Formats: sequence, C-alpha cells, structure tokens
Amino acid sequence: MRQPLIAGNWKMNGTRSSAEALMKAVLQGTSAIEKSEIVVCPPFPFLALGEQVLGASAVRLGAQNVCTEASGAYTGEVSAQMLAEFGCHYIICGHSERREHYGETDAIVAKKLALTIDQGMTPILCVGETLEQREQGRMEDVIAGQIDEIINRNTIASFGQLEIAYEPVWAIGTGKTATPAQAQAVHNFIRRRIADHDPAIAAKVRILYGGSMKPGNALELLSQADIDGGLIGGAALVAEDFLAICQAGGTAAG
Ligand code: PGA
Repeated sequence: MRQPLIAGNWKMNGTRSSAEALMKAVLQGTSAIEKSEIVVCPPFPFLALGEQVLGASAVRLGAQNVCTEASGAYTGEVSAQMLAEFGCHYIICGHSERREHYGETDAIVAKKLALTIDQGMTPILCVGETLEQREQGRMEDVIAGQIDEIINRNTIASFGQLEIAYEPVWAIGTGKTATPAQAQAVHNFIRRRIADHDPAIAAKVRILYGGSMKPGNALELLSQADIDGGLIGGAALVAEDFLAICQAGGTAAG
C-alpha cells in the first residue's frame, strides 16, 4: 500500500505574510489528517520561514527547483545542499513550466535528480504531454521518452528514491482535468514502463497526478489504482481547498 502524497506547488505566488499565513493554516488543518503525507513547496525566499513554521511537524517542506551544479560560479542559482540545509525534503524537478520557459531538457532534469538524491532529499520528477502531442497520438512516446532518459542517465535504481508526477500540460492551470480514467491509464503506463526494468521499484514508486486537481475531483482521481497523490498548483494557494484535497487522499487510502 502506497501512502498518498499531496504536494502543494505554490509557484511564484504570495508575499511573506500570505506565505506565513498559508503555512500556518495548512499546519493547523493537517493535524487531523493522518493518512496522507503532506508537502508544501513555497518560492525560495520563503523556505527559511517554512522551516521555522513547519519545524518538525508532519507537514514537509519542498522546493520548486534546484541548480544542476553542486556549487560555484552560477549566479542566481540555488544548490541542493542549500535546500537541504533549509529543511527541504522534496524538490520538484522538470516541471513543465521549467521545461517550456527555461529550456530544461531531460539531461538537465537528470542532473537535478542526481544532486537532490545525493543530498538526501527526494525528487518529484514531472512528466507529461502537451495537447498537441496528445492529439497527434504521441502521448505514450513522449512520456516513455522522459522516463527512459532518466533510466539511461541515472539508472533504474534512482526510481527507488523519487516520486513521479504525471502532469498533462494541457490540464495545468487551465481548469481542464484529465478524467480519472485518462489519468489512470497514463499512470498505469508509467508504472509498467518502470516494471519492465524493475517490478519491485515499479510497485513501490508513487505516481502523483497534477493538473487542475481540486476538492471537487480529488477523491475520484485519488481513488484510481495507480494514482498515489497529487501535485497541486492553484488549489494549493487556498488553505481550505488544499486541506480538502489532503483529506480526500486520506479517504482514498481507506
Ligand atoms: P494546477 O497546477 O493545479 O494549477 O493545474 C499543477 C502544477 O503545475 O503542478
């Protein structure tokens, strides 16, 4: 049984005071939610605040990105070691917004995953297809390519130390959600792809769904056999909505 993981990706939103209020509300609200593992990923400047507010609580801290290099002359970048020092447990790697706006390739994502794991943290590896790729019938090839590149570069063993988020690009921030059946089909495809290399790792790896998950659709999505949690954008900015999704994770876990 894989414990549901609900992670909030706050993206580039909020102020110092709104971030603090949101962290406190999540912390308070989650004390009653036992079955889901809960993570918040605020922007970099709010991580120190996150470490203070969340402390050793059950709500874990994550970052949205990390540098491909360990240290040195990389102006504007943040290293995995720094993120670990500020209490991060998770790092989102290869989000489609980074792939699209900042040219992140699978080779770059592979380096970020390796550094994250080296520093004792857990990457959340994002994969997913665009609408155009889906309509051209290339969805499985695209996702298989993203997974295979990581297997080739970082070995299958790295999948024993990470989480995957399947995020159909056309569903992110659009209000369009993959149907539970559509999402389940892709999650199952991803798990089978990993099982071809290592069935034990495939059975264990958590595959989160991301893309307009909301309180109204979370339970149905999270009840699918291969959906083990959610990577939540917009709804993670509203404590009540995020907590309702965390609750749905607990309910789906039974
Ligand atoms: P969304 O974003 O929930 O706003 O669609 C999800 C994500 O990008 O992680």
